[in-house]
Amino acid sequence: MEVLSKSPLETKELGKALGNLLNPGNILALIGDLGSGKTTFVQGISQALHITIPVNSPSFLIIKEYKGKHRMLHIDVYRLKIPERELENIGFEEYLNSDFIIVIEWADKIRGLLPKERMEITFEHVDFNERLIKFKPYGEKYENLLLELKKCLSLE
Ligand SMILES: Nc1ncnc2c1ncn2[C@@H]1O[C@H](COP(=O)(O)OP(=O)(O)OP(=O)(O)O)[C@@H](O)[C@H]1O
Ligand SMILES: [Mg+2]
Repeated sequence: MEVLSKSPLETKELGKALGNLLNPGNILALIGDLGSGKTTFVQGISQALHITIPVNSPSFLIIKEYKGKHRMLHIDVYRLKIPERELENIGFEEYLNSDFIIVIEWADKIRGLLPKERMEITFEHVDFNERLIKFKPYGEKYENLLLELKKCLSLE
C-alpha cells in the first residue's frame, strides 16, 4: 500500500492511524533518507499510544523506551558504525521477545537482525512537502494489520 503525504501533519496522522491498531510485540522497520519523515511518523504513533514525552530524532541515544497505552521502543541506528554488532550488545534480541512495540529508523542497516515477521515502511522524498510512504507487510499478522489500516483510512 502507498500513501502520498502532503504535509508533516498528514504523516503524523498516518502514524497515529497505524498506532491505534498496534499490539504489544509489533515490529515496524522504517526505511528512508535523512528528513524523509520517519520520526514525524513515529510522533503520530506515540500520540496514538498516549505517550506524553515528546519523541524526537535521538542524536545521542540509539535506543529509547517510552511508556503509554503500550510500551514503545524507539531505535535509530543511523549513527552506529557497526549497527548489527552494537545492537546485539545492547540486548536487541531480548527486546524482540518482549511486549515492547519496536520502531526502528534506518532499519535497512540491520537487515540481518530483523525478525521474519514485521511491517516495513519506506519513506521517499517527492517534493518539499510531499513524501511517498509505502507499507510492506511480512507475515500474516502484518498483512492483517495492513488490511485494518486500509479500512481505517478509507473511513476517514
Ligand atoms: N509530508 C511530510 N511528511 C513528513 N515530514 C515532512 C513532510 N513535508 C515536509 N516534512 C519535513 O521533513 C522533515 C522530516 O523530518 P523527520 O525527522 O521526520 O525525518 P527522518 O526521516 O526521521 O530523518 P532522520 O533520518 O534524520 O532521522 C521535517 O522537517 C518535516 O517538517
Ligand atoms: Mg529521524
